[in-house]
Amino acid sequence: MTKTYKIAVIPGDGTGPEVVAEGVKVLDAAAAKHGFKYEGTTFDFGGERYKRTGETLPDSAIAELRKFDAILLGAIGHPDVAPGILEKGILLKARFELDQYINLRPVRLYPGVWTPLKDKGPDEIDYVVVRENTGDLYTGTGGVTMKGTPHEVAVQAAVYTRFQVDRCLRYAFEYARKYGKKARGKGENNTLALCGKTNVLTYLYDLWERAFHEMGRQEYADVKREYYHVDATCMWMVKNPEWFDVIVTGNMFGDIITDLGAITQGGMGIAAGGNINPEGVSMFEPIGGSAPKYTGKGVINPLAAICAAAMMLENLGEEKAARGIEDAVQHVTANKLKSLAAGKMGYSTSQVGDLVAGYVTDQ
Ligand code: IPM
Ligand code: MN
Repeated sequence: MTKTYKIAVIPGDGTGPEVVAEGVKVLDAAAAKHGFKYEGTTFDFGGERYKRTGETLPDSAIAELRKFDAILLGAIGHPDVAPGILEKGILLKARFELDQYINLRPVRLYPGVWTPLKDKGPDEIDYVVVRENTGDLYTGTGGVTMKGTPHEVAVQAAVYTRFQVDRCLRYAFEYARKYGKKARGKGENNTLALCGKTNVLTYLYDLWERAFHEMGRQEYADVKREYYHVDATCMWMVKNPEWFDVIVTGNMFGDIITDLGAITQGGMGIAAGGNINPEGVSMFEPIGGSAPKYTGKGVINPLAAICAAAMMLENLGEEKAARGIEDAVQHVTANKLKSLAAGKMGYSTSQVGDLVAGYVTDQ
């Protein structure tokens, strides 16, 4: 019997609905082509609903989302809502409550895509960041006293438990073993690099570094281990991106270095990520924002949302369908689009979706 996946779709704010529509279009094409079925259920969480009802992502919604096989998210962020409310109330709440402890962010330059890195192409820009997604500065540990006075004190602590570090490292080692450059026929080793700051954060990244080498030595001797400080990581991501294979890091550094990675792979029009709970419900999203100024114009690039849909299929075990979409995206970047930038693609948002869906069907 064909499996029917239950997919929760949260289009969200701004251009989210436009790009998610194209992700769904491509999913439909992939389902028809590769013989799986899915049932999509749309939820209206986002800025508009918040303005109407004061609700972000209620606990009842979390309970409901747990029943799905995966979540496809557009974008969260509304010009009329103060920063932090929707991000914390929806995006971070979903990540934390559903314990999506991995944020997987591939940094891959597709053929035909312009990169700001001189002399670097798809062979050089081809790595993945495994960002821990539930700890660090994101836990909200801390507080403020004497607010509004000249003596105001603000504390926000980076928090990690051994448990959180270990489960993230395990995912990263497994990922490197299965999808590293050697496994993909692109290098001599499968390499996992820890990105930290052991010279200053001598508690936090000391924990990461010890756990990293212990696990590597004991269980993943076949995976080559490297260590970089986060500042140096940024430098080498620009100068020698080909050095990287799989990078593992904490939540805050991961947030920062993946925006740098995204711009080297062509920007927010193409960068996708997965918030993954390997034992639960995972959520896939284009990592760009809601782009209010392009909303409703049909000019935004939907490829990131389409790539997020491909990551979702990969995670559901539909690897062939995921490959099919990735091939189609590469075909479109290599042969069709003039640019990945909004309004400069040479096609409208839905035409780009049509091109990818058409290739998925015909290939
Ligand atoms: C991301 C975003 C989020 C983060 C924001 C919107 C809360 O920047 O997904 O990288 O910081 O994780
Ligand atoms: Mn970010």
